[in-house]
Amino acid sequence: MAKMWAGRFQKEEKKEVNDFNSSISFDGVMFKDDITGSMAHARMLGEKGIISKEDSILIINTLADILSDIEEGKLMLDPEAEDIHMFVEAELTKRIGEVGKRLHTARSRNDQVALDVRLHLRDMADSTIQNLNALLNTIIDLTEKHKSTVMPGYTHLQRAQPITFANHLLAYAFMIKRDIERFMDAKGRMNYSPLGSCALAGTTYPIDRCMTADELGFDGIVLNSLDGVSDRDFAVELASAASIAMMHLSRFSEEIILWCSWEFKFIELDDAYSTGSSIMPQKKNPDIAELVRGKTGRVYGDLITLLTMLKGIPLAYNKDMQEDKEAIFDSLDTLNQCLKIFKPMLETIKVNKENMRNAAKKGFINATDLADYLVKKGMAFRDAYKISGSLVAYCIDKNIVLEDVPLEVFKEYSTLFDMDVYPEIDIERCTFKRTSQGASAIESVEAQIKALRS
Ligand code: ARG
Repeated sequence: MAKMWAGRFQKEEKKEVNDFNSSISFDGVMFKDDITGSMAHARMLGEKGIISKEDSILIINTLADILSDIEEGKLMLDPEAEDIHMFVEAELTKRIGEVGKRLHTARSRNDQVALDVRLHLRDMADSTIQNLNALLNTIIDLTEKHKSTVMPGYTHLQRAQPITFANHLLAYAFMIKRDIERFMDAKGRMNYSPLGSCALAGTTYPIDRCMTADELGFDGIVLNSLDGVSDRDFAVELASAASIAMMHLSRFSEEIILWCSWEFKFIELDDAYSTGSSIMPQKKNPDIAELVRGKTGRVYGDLITLLTMLKGIPLAYNKDMQEDKEAIFDSLDTLNQCLKIFKPMLETIKVNKENMRNAAKKGFINATDLADYLVKKGMAFRDAYKISGSLVAYCIDKNIVLEDVPLEVFKEYSTLFDMDVYPEIDIERCTFKRTSQGASAIESVEAQIKALRS
């Protein structure tokens, strides 16, 4: 098919050139944004007398018909079209001839695509925020049920100090909360209209950029015309927020995978959210968590694609920028896919409190509390630390836990020891007397939940 820009060309475009150049296979999803943007532009052209009121109305009504025809499946996108913008304009001209050709007055595909991408990403950011919020609520609900579920907290994947499962989960809740804030921030900076930047230099027509920006729900206009058509930093910001969110989900996934193993058995995934093996009949695999962890790499890749695509291109528009869409759409699609499946997977886990509690019993996670006991009786922390360490060595040798050490033995290590040491190193007490802000005591956990819920 002859191109709209064929005027200055002597030869027709080769089919393989069009195939290589065409973006409709991935920008077709922006049909609604393209049409809404064009309607606002046409209305403004009519209001400002740049085209007649009647033409403006006819264009807007025909665009509305095209939109509903696409939505109802009556009009198929032409896979041979160069991009969604050319497709819609060609369809408009097919329907209303001469009048349709007036739509592109005082506009370029450069500001058109910059507009469409922003509109499309605004919606994608909204659904991402919704999905993150839904997951956040699931985590908080789970937290409420495990305020008194004691487990070992780890550093270096070695049992370290006693915590509750609730407090462990809350760490992820706060990460997700910041992810939501990052998306809201990015959305705020993105929400400025580039329409009216035209090709790069603005226009001599008396357009009103604020009028279209208002109609399309923007907070204002991009003030520089070259910036309006050239930058995709908003896509980079969203991809970076998506990468950070995926990094969080991936760490969470890693823990879920560990917790499901026979070595831990802290949780069990619901059958409906696990898979089996084709050869080993006993297997129940945490495929969902593994896939979330695996897809993180792909979302990071999208971010690097965008940064690299932008780093060397001179102002203003260059065709390199067409590569923005696949990367940023994939990034957000992947994150949303992960969020949607992660939530029900988490909602349906079975928590094995017994195993968590047993793990907390071993590993000497009350050794710090034992040292603190001596400190409270007047000993310097470093000396107390050493005595507690020696007692741990004694226990390892005798294959017992600190709670089982007889008082006579305690006294051999320090005369400060007395009967009151036993309640001080009781695992439950060690967990729930940690009342500092952010810790595992019930009141500290409840304060965190309250902060998150508000
Ligand atoms: N399909 C193009 C893109 O996504 C639209 C803009 C084309 N502009 C141009 N000057 N060729 O970037």
